[in-house]
Amino acid sequence: MKRLLLLALTGAIALAAPTDLVAQMTLEEKLGQLQQRLTDEPATVALVRAGRVGSTLSVLGAARCNRLQRVAVEESRLKIPLLFGFDVIHGYRTIFPVPLGEAASWDPAMAELSASVAAREAYAAGLRWTFAPMVDVARDPRWGRVVEGAGEDPVLVSAMARARVRGFQGTDYSQPGRVVACAKHFVAYGAVEAGRDYNSTDVSERTLREVYLPPFKTAVDAGVGTLMSAFTDLGGVPGSANVFTLDEVLRREWKFDGFVVSDYSSVEELIHHGIAADGAEAAELGLNAGVDMEMVSENYNQHGAALLAAGKVTPEQIEASVRRILLVKQRAGLWERPYTEEGLADRWFLSADHRKAARRVAVSSMVLLRNERNRLPIPAQASTIALLGPLADSKVDLLGSWEADGKAADVVTVREGIQRRLGAAGKVLYAPGPRLDLVQKADYTVLVVGEPARWSGEARSRSDLSLPADQVRLIQAVHATRKPYCVVLMNGRPLVLGWVAENCPALLEAWYPGTEGGNAVADVLFGDQNPGGKLPMTFPRVLGQVPIYYNHKATGRSNLPPDHTFASKYLDVSNEPQFPFGYGLSYTTFELSNLKVAPGQVEVTLTNTGLRAGDEVVQVYLHDVAASVTRPVKELKAFQRVTLGPGQQQRLTFPLGPEQLALWDRSMHWRVEPGVFTVTVGTSSEGGLTGEFRI
Ligand code: NOJ
Repeated sequence: MKRLLLLALTGAIALAAPTDLVAQMTLEEKLGQLQQRLTDEPATVALVRAGRVGSTLSVLGAARCNRLQRVAVEESRLKIPLLFGFDVIHGYRTIFPVPLGEAASWDPAMAELSASVAAREAYAAGLRWTFAPMVDVARDPRWGRVVEGAGEDPVLVSAMARARVRGFQGTDYSQPGRVVACAKHFVAYGAVEAGRDYNSTDVSERTLREVYLPPFKTAVDAGVGTLMSAFTDLGGVPGSANVFTLDEVLRREWKFDGFVVSDYSSVEELIHHGIAADGAEAAELGLNAGVDMEMVSENYNQHGAALLAAGKVTPEQIEASVRRILLVKQRAGLWERPYTEEGLADRWFLSADHRKAARRVAVSSMVLLRNERNRLPIPAQASTIALLGPLADSKVDLLGSWEADGKAADVVTVREGIQRRLGAAGKVLYAPGPRLDLVQKADYTVLVVGEPARWSGEARSRSDLSLPADQVRLIQAVHATRKPYCVVLMNGRPLVLGWVAENCPALLEAWYPGTEGGNAVADVLFGDQNPGGKLPMTFPRVLGQVPIYYNHKATGRSNLPPDHTFASKYLDVSNEPQFPFGYGLSYTTFELSNLKVAPGQVEVTLTNTGLRAGDEVVQVYLHDVAASVTRPVKELKAFQRVTLGPGQQQRLTFPLGPEQLALWDRSMHWRVEPGVFTVTVGTSSEGGLTGEFRI
């Protein structure tokens, strides 16, 4: 009570804390703020007491966080609160679809909703900082971390980045139920060569500016509190030593005033990259580049004093880093509210509202890839369902990678979801493997296949993206019975589906749909909900096409027919993907009409021409016909997910201003170059209505 009163009285002073404090800090205390430690083991507690820790990476639970916070706030000399961080990627206890799935909703409102629920639960667990969103554009599905991002397109990734920053932070992240966000991994981590995690990247400044940087810029403009520097090197300079990206672009051009945390021991990794001879040099490089906080490795603390004494870093640099960290702590309201109410978790975790939100977002993330002869939804009269496949009753796989405190026991499996939907009158005949007798006994068969969740995520790159052979055999055996069936896919990356994509009558991409995944799958399979998601990443035909992405360049051979001897092509496969970026079907049909294109604006009418309500995502693509530098064949510039009842119509307007028309020109500046632009408005990156205008 006394403490609360004191805080109330000193509110104004607390707000001035960071600047005042720096002057009072010893060098050890300053370096302490730059250190993030993993856990709350006794060594950490002692260091916190000595004012030598700024943050933790995986101390979880309100009681545990409060215990350690008490040491910082009541026992350390300057009483600077700790910032408790953790990887809260797609939910904390209530798990939402993996971010790639969420991006397939093409609905920023869904991403904001999921991040806001994740923030509430993380807050209840004592946390104040999440290492999300990952905003790395990714064009190579071999990279296991594509599951954590929003896919291959900078505009879609940016829209999701903005929504997720808002969802985590709200408009004021000092408010209870909000956490500081962290845009990562700065920058171009998604460009790892050959899709192998942690591998080298080498990207031209133009591609960096046009493809990899924009989502970070969007996150900064949305007020993201922190950024994380990437493990990877970019054109020879690792993310945690990169003066160009961190200082020139992030701080000087973009005026970012939050702080940068290194990725896990990535300051130390400067030694392994071979650009630092030892820990002292690694610390020197990190500090000089402007990496403010060192995650886990301790080179700043071990060598900071010697580096200062030798004049290799300046006191002003260290103080600037401390100030940035204290500023974010202040904005997080840590002086006003250092502790977390311990009963919150019981009230908030897995609340009915949170489960409802998870189910809604999961439904919105699903993409209907095929639906020949309307095999889906499952006919109402089907009461006995055969349910086959290794993922049909899995709990743990539905959580996907980075499940935070998500528990398998909380998950509704597809088997449970379908059984619930059928009710007591219906029957689910389940087997994980090839029990064809069940298919014979059932009215309809559902196969749930894909990759186990542990096949995607960090350090989980793969060189083969096909479905496991036994799963394909299972599908083929069911197919051969000629009985009605559909396939539900669970995976965290584009797959090479081959025969399955060509032959299965109905194919639903469900990603890893989270805690309410089984209910959401049942909602869609039985037509209670109409799928409206679209692919956020291209699905290749064969692995040899990778990297394959819709916004590629035309090449000097784009005038030749695709089968011309000297066309830019393969001898053994077409250039076309299996399923293009932006693609997805619905149980209803839509039509676009009356396209009106003018400089500054595009208008089009969308009509639901089918018999059910449904969602369509209208996508606006632009092409600058003749420019000073080669341009992608098309670039997504705007999109909107729209819900329409049967027969309903809506006129949509999209802005196409200088921001959308500009390119990074030959002299390395953003510029709108006069000339002709073509516009394609469609429901996928392939096809659509076209028009043009001249600037
Ligand atoms: C390494 C990962 O690259 C990063 O995304 C994550 O936030 C940190 N580990 C902390 O777990």
